[in-house]
Amino acid sequence: MKKLSKDIRFEVGNGRRQFLQMAGYGALGLMAGGFRPLLGQTAASQHGDAISKTEFAPDLDISLVSIPGDLAMFPGAATQVWQYHAKVNKGNKNRVIELPRSYLGPIIKAQQGEKIRIRFTNSISEKSIVHWHGLHVPEVMDGHPRDVVSPGESYLYEFEIKNRAGTYWYHPHPHGRTGPQVYGGLAGLFLVSDEEEKSLGLPDGEYDIPLVIQDRAFDRDNQLLYTSGNRMAQMTGFLGDSILVNGRPDFTLPVSTTAYRLRLLNGSNSRIYRLAWQDGRPLIIIGTDGGLLEKPVSRSYVFLAPGERIELWSDFSDSPVGYETALISLPFDGGGMGRGMMMGGRRGVNPSIPNGANLSLFKIKVTKSVSISRLLPQKLTEMGSIRESDADNYNHPRQFYLNMGHMRGMINGRVFQMENVAEDEIVQLGSKEIWEFSNTAGGMMRMPHPIHLHGKQFRVIGRDGVKHQGYVDDGWKDTVLLMPGERVRILVEFDDYPGLFLYHCHNLEHEDMGMMRNYYVRRA
Ligand code: C2O
Ligand code: CU
Ligand code: CU
Repeated sequence: MKKLSKDIRFEVGNGRRQFLQMAGYGALGLMAGGFRPLLGQTAASQHGDAISKTEFAPDLDISLVSIPGDLAMFPGAATQVWQYHAKVNKGNKNRVIELPRSYLGPIIKAQQGEKIRIRFTNSISEKSIVHWHGLHVPEVMDGHPRDVVSPGESYLYEFEIKNRAGTYWYHPHPHGRTGPQVYGGLAGLFLVSDEEEKSLGLPDGEYDIPLVIQDRAFDRDNQLLYTSGNRMAQMTGFLGDSILVNGRPDFTLPVSTTAYRLRLLNGSNSRIYRLAWQDGRPLIIIGTDGGLLEKPVSRSYVFLAPGERIELWSDFSDSPVGYETALISLPFDGGGMGRGMMMGGRRGVNPSIPNGANLSLFKIKVTKSVSISRLLPQKLTEMGSIRESDADNYNHPRQFYLNMGHMRGMINGRVFQMENVAEDEIVQLGSKEIWEFSNTAGGMMRMPHPIHLHGKQFRVIGRDGVKHQGYVDDGWKDTVLLMPGERVRILVEFDDYPGLFLYHCHNLEHEDMGMMRNYYVRRA
């Protein structure tokens, strides 16, 4: 990857500049870039109104900066990375948890109903913007690529947490550079809690463990290697040869003899995992992207694609101290270009490991005997029934065909255009729709595509062409995997927040190659 320059550092917390940035949002935005001529004006003035009319009184006010740094990850030279760092300006300091010895950004914790203000300052050497993956926020708070800020500039986010309790995350979203920026280290978890979740008495504190799984490749000097820019390699996406958990290689999780809540995020650029326990015990799934399931689900394996989260209930009370197991990724057909991209290889040994390779992700070691017994609740939440016939387009679901062609990623034959929305990408505020995605193109470009919608959590209401049991579709989702040959139908309700939102493949190299589009929620 491009050498991360360390010479650009800016003051964090320049309140005035941030204020100017925001107050001038509409006017300056228009002047500077000729942005939002068609759709954006409403959004900009809306935001302006919100500021002047209602005083935003945040429960939590933090400054977040993206900045180059170096980290001792291996013996020898420190690894140059990009990192998010945060500082709490107002509110409970324990809501921002820095991960020790990790490039990952701090875990931000919030409760449903709280108001959050985040002053983001971009101190890396290229444009960036932060997106809150899975959070239901207004258009201008979503981190659309058109809102990128230059090095030294800031962006002010203010939003209320509307989501259910769950495991969400944040990462950069500049067009064409999301892959390299996330790869360089820019990503973090955003955990939301609510009263319903608290009443369940799920494992918490040291028994509630976030686990961000990513793959990386390093050169002989411990520096991150990214794609060579080779278009063929990018068709598959970046695949590394080392698995990192919470930013650390060779991760081992020490556990006590009790139940845990394990929150897994696949924060990899392109690698998909087919999760299973090495000792053959079933995975007990209690939550997905948008929070808890109605009831726990047991599976021998589960797919986790880039962007997706899954929460496991893992009880080690029957295991003796000294017991070891591991979370592994079982082999599967990763489709497409098969072997993945070739790289220099870590310390010159191995070329990249293909998508679908058998891998050990992290070890579990039972190290302590405790007598905390917890029972898995048989009911976790109320999901509400899905009534497909309620969809406004029940008879004509919106169709989206995924395709790789001419060295680009496409949706309905189109690539990303910053502010462009096609007629068939406009939905009505207040409507409920069925969207159908098809990954049915043939040929050598048969590849998995995890499709992600900004703005809304949705329900998966149907699948075709699925030849495995690796999906958990029971809960709320914002990212849904389609293996080659598969088709999926989702139900999504555009109940509030008009404006321009993204939908895209969350294989970050596909996204950067244009496999991303806008949809526009139009006021009735
Ligand atoms: Cu996690 Cu548009 O992304
Ligand atoms: Cu997102
Ligand atoms: Cu894709």
